Amino acid sequence: KKREPLKIMISGAPASGKGTQCELIKKKYDLGHIAAGDLLRAEIAAGSDNGNRAKEYMEIGQLVPDEILVTMVKERLMQPDSQDKGWLLDGYPRSLSQATALKGFGFHPDLFILLEVPEEILVERVVGRRLDPVTGKIYHLKYSPPETEEIAARLTQRFDDTEEKVKLRLRTHHQNVESVLSMYDDIIIKVDGSVSKEAVFAQIDFALTKLLEQRAESIGSA
Ligand code: AP5
Repeated sequence: KKREPLKIMISGAPASGKGTQCELIKKKYDLGHIAAGDLLRAEIAAGSDNGNRAKEYMEIGQLVPDEILVTMVKERLMQPDSQDKGWLLDGYPRSLSQATALKGFGFHPDLFILLEVPEEILVERVVGRRLDPVTGKIYHLKYSPPETEEIAARLTQRFDDTEEKVKLRLRTHHQNVESVLSMYDDIIIKVDGSVSKEAVFAQIDFALTKLLEQRAESIGSA
């Protein structure tokens, strides 16, 4: 019998390490990764109307309106790939209205991972972050430096990764996080995101392993 695919949400403040952990989770558990911020940046790159509008909000660290994002995420969740492999939803939902919409569409996660990182660390992570436009990989000048000179030479920086803008993004995060958490109260795991990326992943991996074991047991005893 085919195993029921895993469905996971990952949340946390800006630069808490969501994208970094998603790379590691994806590598081991092969889930469909859907990142709200990446979907929006792809729209911006495509020059679409939605992209242009979204950028106005992202520039000031605010949530983009639901009419831009809610359908976009829903469509990705409904794709056969996400349905077969399971999904890893990154940076979504970020408001009560998004969480309520998801519930209405029938999408409910098995686990909600919250990365906890003190604020002074977040600013340093944002300012040092770089992206490889070729592989999509996330780097940090100090904590995760590029492997080769060639990669180093092509790294880019996000338009919203300045100290000034991350403060606005943090404020938006604080305004919304509690209402989202309240929707997933019974399935939240809080993870210390301030340690090395490998040590953060070890905590997540432990929780996912336990979840899969519990499932296997409940199938076995049924
Ligand atoms: P989004 O792109 O989701 O940005 P964010 O939430 O601010 O999160 P980040 O991508 O900045 O950080 P991350 O947690 O993925 O950290 P990363 O792994 O890169 O959203 C951008 C904008 O889009 C929002 O402001 C909003 O306008 C809009 N938006 C998005 N979702 C929306 C929604 N649902 N509704 C409405 N609007 C929405 O790590 C950061 C850095 O730290 C990297 O350099 C990394 O190498 C380093 N690092 C990671 N882990 C560690 C570690 N353990 N130790 C040391 N360094 C580490």
